[in-house]
Amino acid sequence: MIIVTGGTSGIGEAIVKGLESKGIDTFTISRSGHKIKNHFQCDITEYDQLKELYKKFNKEKRRIEAIINCAGIASMNLAITTPKNIIDKVINTNLIGTIYTNQIFSPLLIRNGEGRIINFSTIAVSLALEGESIYIASKAGVEAFSRSFAKELAGFNITVNCIAPGPIKTNLLKGISSQQINNIVNRQIIKKEMNTDDILDIVNLLLDKKSGKITGQLIHVGGY
Ligand SMILES: NC(=O)c1ccc[n+]([C@@H]2O[C@H](COP(=O)([O-])OP(=O)(O)OC[C@H]3O[C@@H](n4cnc5c(N)ncnc54)[C@H](OP(=O)(O)O)[C@@H]3O)[C@@H](O)[C@H]2O)c1
Repeated sequence: MIIVTGGTSGIGEAIVKGLESKGIDTFTISRSGHKIKNHFQCDITEYDQLKELYKKFNKEKRRIEAIINCAGIASMNLAITTPKNIIDKVINTNLIGTIYTNQIFSPLLIRNGEGRIINFSTIAVSLALEGESIYIASKAGVEAFSRSFAKELAGFNITVNCIAPGPIKTNLLKGISSQQINNIVNRQIIKKEMNTDDILDIVNLLLDKKSGKITGQLIHVGGY
């Protein structure tokens, strides 16, 4: 089984569908109660909810092979005009929520003596995109956390990597114009808009048995 947070929309949903199509079972986690198989309604900013879910997974003794942390939100605002509640929500979801899921679920991998953790950043961090500073701060934290957590888990044969996509048309980018997307795409090495299948390819690569020595890495899809 593979746990996918944010597996009900966009990139996470594509990952769930791609894994399921290969016969790999998934547990998905998000706040809205979607009627999909093995979905758990849980807010990743709520430590106690995640702990309850961990207890359930642990009790069932199902073998968890990987944790893919896709759940995230964006805020496309100048820092100076971003309301406090949005600052808190973005940092709590993207950074704190990702730290919670890494910490709380990683014992499910440790007990197997192997596993994979994949976290999500964004190319916006490396580009230091203007108008996204709060979102970028939250994702820069995820990058730094992942590098250090990779060292903490290396002794258990668990790899921890970050995928940093460029713009991909999902609900997350609803407020972004095609012009803005093109401007960012043109700053990638490969000047083509990526899609969820491109991310799925990287996920499959990192999950592959032969990728056990790839850890602590940040992979810019499309190149930076
Ligand atoms: N799309 C892009 O261009 C792009 C580029 C770079 C990086 N990324 C990153 O890739 C990841 C996936 O993005 P996406 O484009 O697929 O976004 P999306 O389509 O908006 O999906 C986000 C998912 O996260 C879940 N989620 C949000 N807050 C949550 C919370 N507090 N607890 C549990 N689940 C929560 C959502 O479900 P609920 O709302 O039901 O909870 C949804 O399933 C994000 O981390 C994003 O920052 C995306």
